[in-house]
Amino acid sequence: MSRRKIAAGNWKLNLSFEEAMQLGRSIANQEIPSGVEVILAAAFPYLKSLGEMAVPVQNLHIAAQNCSEHAKGAFTGEVAASMLNSIQISHVLIGHSERREYFGDTDNVLCMKLQQAFDNEINPIYCCGEPLRIRKSGDHVSYVKTQLEETIFKLDQDQFAKLVLAYEPIWAIGTGETASSEQAQEMHAAIREMISNQYSQELADGIPILYGGSVKPANAKELFSQKDVDGGLVGGASLKSDSFIEIINSF
Ligand code: 13P
Repeated sequence: MSRRKIAAGNWKLNLSFEEAMQLGRSIANQEIPSGVEVILAAAFPYLKSLGEMAVPVQNLHIAAQNCSEHAKGAFTGEVAASMLNSIQISHVLIGHSERREYFGDTDNVLCMKLQQAFDNEINPIYCCGEPLRIRKSGDHVSYVKTQLEETIFKLDQDQFAKLVLAYEPIWAIGTGETASSEQAQEMHAAIREMISNQYSQELADGIPILYGGSVKPANAKELFSQKDVDGGLVGGASLKSDSFIEIINSF
């Protein structure tokens, strides 16, 4: 079955406003291949301007990198999903390993963030993936299964159908070490089977699963050609328009 193809850039804590707008504009000015969606996850202060820039561009969406688990109130420094909705932001990253590791995003917090996103009509891009220690032990599939069981497998079918998943092995993030296309395919197929067992084959067949972890122009084509890999969530290589555009054209 043909699934949505997605190239998502996660700019993380990088770029000035000028640089972000310039990068966004140069991607918006490209012809995005038909059937491919491009998503740019930028810092909060840039989202409104990027969103306005992206409105007339078909298949270009802007994502937040995080949202609060709370709806509103005395939570200094936080950004609520309703605030993202109020500036027409359509996507949010939830469960990125950097949030889990450095900011205490536990499974329980992630469940609350997912609920906030759905309550405010924002589509989550849910990230999962194992650390090196687990990969070395050979338990990576069951580790990821537990991550899913504790979070997104608690969603009802209608909510689950709105997700984009990203498998990001932590040992491949920012390290230059990419999972091989076989390692990516193995995990993506395993995740799809878990979804089929939890929900239905139809749902499993329809959910885009992106690979993330040192995706670059040199390896994107091979990764994206795997049967169960529907695109990439790209960090470092999304910060330069040339390399990200090459990745977008790798499908
Ligand atoms: P890199 O592409 O820099 O390894 O980052 C991957 C990532 O964390 C995307 O969310």
